[in-house]
Amino acid sequence: MAANLFLLAVLTITTFSLAIASDPSPLQDFCVGVKMSPVFVNGLVCEDPKLAKPEDFFFAGLNKPGNTSNPLGSMVTPVAAGQLPGLNTLGISLARIDFEPYGLNPPHTHPRATEILTVLEGSLYVGFVTSNPGNRLFAKVLRKGDVFVFPQGLVHFQLNSGEGDGWRSRR
Ligand SMILES: *[C@@H]1O[C@H](CO)[C@@H](O)[C@H](O)[C@H]1NC(C)=O
Repeated sequence: MAANLFLLAVLTITTFSLAIASDPSPLQDFCVGVKMSPVFVNGLVCEDPKLAKPEDFFFAGLNKPGNTSNPLGSMVTPVAAGQLPGLNTLGISLARIDFEPYGLNPPHTHPRATEILTVLEGSLYVGFVTSNPGNRLFAKVLRKGDVFVFPQGLVHFQLNSGEGDGWRSRR
């Protein structure tokens, strides 16, 4: 979910300032994350590369639906450094989201990541809101195979509104 390009424009009466920053480029091939460490760092500390094994770069089970029996009627199944230690420092992750009819992934942001989403089954009403000034809503009903991007840092949501193909047949 992360394309780590961060763009900030600051405009005042007298100055125009543009800053571009990103996560630092890895200085090694990989940094398999160790969850329990006495050292506090910005991220997870690296396991000794000599100890790395194929399983550190592997996750199984994304074919399984998440349990949507909760008040929101949705469940996010993340595949991030916590689930797949080899993702640590690479600036990208993946998730599966399951929705009941009218299930909602409520408005939220990822301050340091752009998110791109595709619909594998059913339909989904998705959108994001631009920052001040303006607060424009960009929203669309997606169907199977459609792709939508939520730009970095912008508030976004997903709702199974049942407006598309496949929704009624799944009830
Ligand atoms: C799904 O979550 C609900 C509520 O927490 C729970 O009662 C139910 O047993 C869970 N179902 C499965 C299949 O895990």
